[in-house]
Amino acid sequence: NIIKEIIKNNNIDCDFEKTKTYVFTNNNKDIKNIKKIKDFLINNKIKVYENDMPILKYKYSIGVDNTYLFNPIKYINGLLNKMNNEIYENTNIEKIEKDNKRYICYTKNNKIICNKIILATHYPYFIMPYFFPLKGYLEKSYIVSYKKKIDNISLISYSKPITSIRTYLDNIIYLKESHNICNEVDDKKHFDKLLNNKIEHIWSNIDIITNDYIPYVGYIKDNIIIATGYNTWGMTNSIISSVVIKDIINNKENEYIKLFNPKRSKKLNRIISDSCSTIKGYIEGFKNSNIKSKCPHVKCKLIYNEIENTYDCPCHGSRFDKNGKVIKGPSNKDIMIDKI
Ligand code: FES
Repeated sequence: NIIKEIIKNNNIDCDFEKTKTYVFTNNNKDIKNIKKIKDFLINNKIKVYENDMPILKYKYSIGVDNTYLFNPIKYINGLLNKMNNEIYENTNIEKIEKDNKRYICYTKNNKIICNKIILATHYPYFIMPYFFPLKGYLEKSYIVSYKKKIDNISLISYSKPITSIRTYLDNIIYLKESHNICNEVDDKKHFDKLLNNKIEHIWSNIDIITNDYIPYVGYIKDNIIIATGYNTWGMTNSIISSVVIKDIINNKENEYIKLFNPKRSKKLNRIISDSCSTIKGYIEGFKNSNIKSKCPHVKCKLIYNEIENTYDCPCHGSRFDKNGKVIKGPSNKDIMIDKI
């Protein structure tokens, strides 16, 4: 509803369209869980459809009206057009220092001086004080799109590995093979399962999954706020996070502030399983004597992704193009490709 209001009030053209959304499963245990969601929705006076999902055949599904599809790039560009502020893209902050009550953020050639910092980031580039590698794991998925005209729809499986289908204008976007990157790194095998002659675009995505599936938003230090861990729900969680951040800065009460607190505790068994990719990556990194094949972030061993022609880090998801230029953090440095 917040996004709907923003789009309406600012007259943003971003292909915003109403659709039905379904959650489905074949797994008996998960049928019970989906039925709990159904009861929750009904108790909150939301109409629920049972087992009328189109396209895919599954044992159990529920659907709801009044959900929406839109183009997030057009949405962001629409917002930018309404703003009078300057935005600097592709400007890495390499170091932050405290100077009395202010912060100095160093870029490659300049510095930015400020009172407050909001780190709205895919994955924090620093380890301390937050120690994020022990607070979440990375889930990789493979996505394809092809042209086909069908009614608007949004479907997502409840059970893992996640399967999801969405429409965008005359295209179908199909996601499959989601997995913890700790368990599997054979990109070719995953992509091959999705390929057929109708496919127009293929890509992969890495999401941060937190232990309780709730983002981390809040202060991590004096006047430094973090927002991360959107758990595959970036478009909705980023909007909620922006409201939380605004209220934190204005000292206004908001029930989400406690829920999203990045310092909330975590169970030991999840710490160990979530750290698995990091630990495996460190071991591989330290076994390898070729120093240049390590990720600049915290030195895990890089893996060449022959489908997308990138060097990918299995520890925290940094990615580098075939020339070594960093295209996704937390690394904020390039790698020397000729030495790999
Ligand atoms: Fe952290 Fe590579 S070691 S992203």
